[in-house]
Amino acid sequence: MTLVRFISADGSKVQEVEGAPGERLLDIGQNAGLPLEGTCEGQMACSTCHVIVAAEDFAKLPKASEEEEDMLDLASHVTRHSRLSCQIWLTEGLESLTVRIPGGVHNMQGR
Ligand code: FES
Repeated sequence: MTLVRFISADGSKVQEVEGAPGERLLDIGQNAGLPLEGTCEGQMACSTCHVIVAAEDFAKLPKASEEEEDMLDLASHVTRHSRLSCQIWLTEGLESLTVRIPGGVHNMQGR
């Protein structure tokens, strides 16, 4: 199992949930009630499932595809560790994964 830790956009709330190998990060987040819209349901056509992966976890994940990179270019609040949560599947051996919800349009703190 993977311990998935979601940090709210302003960093004030941390929510921990467990996920099994093969589960998709987007689904785990949505089931936990996080504000991940995932409008296109994983078609890489919306970027509303954007999350920022903790630096120490980023390298543990398989690299983003070119399509994913292109879509991330269009997302707001993108960082070096941004990913689309619809493209992240938990794997055996991934013990924990920490991601942050990107700041919304109302959060102008630059985080
Ligand atoms: Fe649309 Fe991930 S759900 S890009």
